[in-house]
Amino acid sequence: MPKQVDLSVELAGVKLKNPVVAASGTFGFGREYGQFYDLSQLGGICCKGLTLHRREGNPPPRIAETPMGILNSVGLQNPGVEDFISQELPELRRHDLAVIANISGDTPEEYGIMCRLLSAAGVDMIEVNISCPNVKAGGLAYGTRPELAAEVTQVAKAHSTVPVMVKLSPNVTDIVQIAKAVEEAGADALSLINTLRGMRIDVNTRRPILKRNTGGLSGPAVLPVAVRMVWEVSCAVKLPILGMGGVSKGEDAAQLMLAGASAVAVGAACFADPYAPLKVRDGLAEIAAVQGLDRVSALTGAVMPW
Ligand code: SIN
Repeated sequence: MPKQVDLSVELAGVKLKNPVVAASGTFGFGREYGQFYDLSQLGGICCKGLTLHRREGNPPPRIAETPMGILNSVGLQNPGVEDFISQELPELRRHDLAVIANISGDTPEEYGIMCRLLSAAGVDMIEVNISCPNVKAGGLAYGTRPELAAEVTQVAKAHSTVPVMVKLSPNVTDIVQIAKAVEEAGADALSLINTLRGMRIDVNTRRPILKRNTGGLSGPAVLPVAVRMVWEVSCAVKLPILGMGGVSKGEDAAQLMLAGASAVAVGAACFADPYAPLKVRDGLAEIAAVQGLDRVSALTGAVMPW
């Protein structure tokens, strides 16, 4: 019988009982998934992306299936940061898991206000989203230019009393350049990758399937891109990484950890199977046990060079 593996990991000083986190935008605030199992079984949750004020998001259609993936153009639909703090956070706090608030702003100042409110409210970490491809203001504009990414990071850090993790976009020529700028600006951790910009067209109507034309691609199709980017970034910066992009089983998570991630987020897989994060956790534990590891954290950055 394989031995017990210590699944606990640390991400910028935040202790996770296991390395599996629900990815932002795929798990809401946990309420629906909490009907299937106790959320305390997760290492953490990155909550649905918050903005300073409530947003209705983009008009439908805003979701489309793709081979091995999903294209979304949700547009940051959310109840706003204050509603999250009063309605959702107390509910989440009934469970024993790290609560990571994901935030997007139209201006650096908005990021600062949200960081102050969320720090005071007692979230465990803030994930600063500079990579949403589905909004006009902010979003990807901050994530594709090193000086703007650095500015948002500095403002977020200045207004936070909890660790700040910056979520990077794959829609750039050189993700390492952005990662370095964010590291120099004082970030405590990085999460990557957000979705890849994509498009589908209905050949009969000749219209784009998404109302907003383009969206962000996630799901198993993007895993090799995520592994490559986590590996490149982890070779270039010292910050801990939350790896994500197409994880649906333990082996996918193990690849991201070997590439350099300290923990992994499970996203699109949750739509097809609410139990996906738990299956990823168990699959990861089995791989570590079969490989004779005492701690799953021994996988982080352990990819062997040729
Ligand atoms: C969205 O709400 O449009 C997705 C958020 C993101 O991709 O960052």
